[in-house]
Amino acid sequence: MTDVVTDVVTGQVAPDEAWWRQAVVYQIYPRSFADGNGDGIGDLAGMLSRVDHIVSLGVDAVWLSPFYPSALVDGGYDVDDYMDVDPRIGTLDELDRLVAALHAHGIRVIVDLVPNHSSDRHEKFRAAVAAGPGSPERDLYIFRDGRGEHGELPPAQWSSLMGDPAWTRVPDGQWYLHLFTKEQPDWNWANPAVHAYFLEVLRFWGDRGVDGFRVDVANGLTKRLAADLPTQEELDTPGTFEVGDHPLFDRDDVQDVYREWREVFDAYDPPLMAVAEAWVTPDRRLRYTASGGLDQAFGFDLLRATWDAASFRRIIEESCALAERADVPATWVFSNHDVVRHATRYGLVGGDENDWLLSRGAHPVEDRDLGLRRARAVTLLALALPGSAYLYQGEELGLPEVMVPDDERQDPVFWRKGGKEIGRDGCRVPLPWTKDGSSFGFGDGGAHLPQPEWFARYAADLQEQDPSSTLHLYRRALALRTRLQAAARMEWLDLGDEVVAFQRPGGWCSVTNFGTAPVPLPQGTVLLASDDRGLQDGSLGPDTTAWLRLDGPVDPALDV
Ligand code: GLC
Ligand code: CA
Repeated sequence: MTDVVTDVVTGQVAPDEAWWRQAVVYQIYPRSFADGNGDGIGDLAGMLSRVDHIVSLGVDAVWLSPFYPSALVDGGYDVDDYMDVDPRIGTLDELDRLVAALHAHGIRVIVDLVPNHSSDRHEKFRAAVAAGPGSPERDLYIFRDGRGEHGELPPAQWSSLMGDPAWTRVPDGQWYLHLFTKEQPDWNWANPAVHAYFLEVLRFWGDRGVDGFRVDVANGLTKRLAADLPTQEELDTPGTFEVGDHPLFDRDDVQDVYREWREVFDAYDPPLMAVAEAWVTPDRRLRYTASGGLDQAFGFDLLRATWDAASFRRIIEESCALAERADVPATWVFSNHDVVRHATRYGLVGGDENDWLLSRGAHPVEDRDLGLRRARAVTLLALALPGSAYLYQGEELGLPEVMVPDDERQDPVFWRKGGKEIGRDGCRVPLPWTKDGSSFGFGDGGAHLPQPEWFARYAADLQEQDPSSTLHLYRRALALRTRLQAAARMEWLDLGDEVVAFQRPGGWCSVTNFGTAPVPLPQGTVLLASDDRGLQDGSLGPDTTAWLRLDGPVDPALDV
């Protein structure tokens, strides 16, 4: 891994400052990655012991989900202290060591920043509660008097995204707003002191040597709360408010915050990067990266697409067009810590493969082989596209979702929605590193979420021995990908309705068969296939992707 990426075909170089433009970023969910001290919770010592694995994948960067001190009400997205490490995960010293170890291999590190809300154990929230109504401390969060004769009714009957009510009362009678659980009070971004505090947090991590941030709920933060609050129905009905002027989400004025942050980012060399988590429509997504704001925003559209060539083509076309218009590379994501793993989503036979949060009851049959075959195929497809890709720990092992028994679930989404949604624990089960041993090599003790017996089959040590494993596929794909040129365009190849095929510079092409019958491949040399069983006599079987170098002259339109 080097600081610059050179395309072997065109010799063009992506400058260092723009390392993220075609980066492959590997997401680590710290508590479930590797456990160094055997207490069942993943930690920095565990991560340090697995640096080799990360290096062997060939990723450009690592994104660490929250490792901050937390009561873990929401898996660490309830932050007690933005400038420290949870003692169960390790120390700042160990974090420095991890960053240094990854940097030594040319791998960048981005950390999760959670600016919409803190936890209710954050010292500033405790102070806000203690100081009472009207105090400057209280004004760092969003407090209001209640309605009703004695203020006994919440300011509005809103429900939080986690199911329970969005306003919670404190002992002196006032209510505070929380878009997520009641343990996650929202910061008051109308208060300049909140701005100042987060600038301090950004600098803290920038000075420590991290390379950037993943911005949690980037479409939250600023709010417009009039004296008369709207109803939940008004909040939920599209068109009630002007685009960009919704009281709670995706407001235009949140961009002022990011422009402020940009000044901090640009004070570093290379500048810090930031990627927005914003579940918004593709055209709105652009706002987060326009006008001197953040660098990238996750593109979740393919993640929500069903197994269908036409949908894939439409989404890719739209994302690439937007990327070109804004000069911000597209990003591709299939899995993360919030959604059902894509190896399971694509194997939901007779179910809704788009049911990315799996509601309760509609428990579909899972065809694991099919799911894995398709997961491997879409991964190769996305890795051949222009832009950057975000991978989630365990997908390089082809891990399916785990159906965690109800009584062992942790996610508030499950508990606070009364079990209507199964929640996100199934993609957060600690990784299987070895086929034998305590907690499949996760650590010497147990695992904080139960690992099923069948995890053994997916263990990294087994896959190491098998050249056709998903692990080896990821490594080979990422190694080949370094030869692709970031900024360069793609051109569609028409190989029929059921096929998604496109060409990149240097005669490179990717072909995915979404249909049920084999399709003929164009003339060329196969570089890699998502499943060798899908390759036969110049044709490509169903549910498979192949990368080829085409014979003949290279399309000049691509050599930009
Ligand atoms: C983001 C995180 C999710 C968390 C929520 C609240 O969506 O990815 O895990 O529950 O924000 O912080
Ligand atoms: Ca531990």
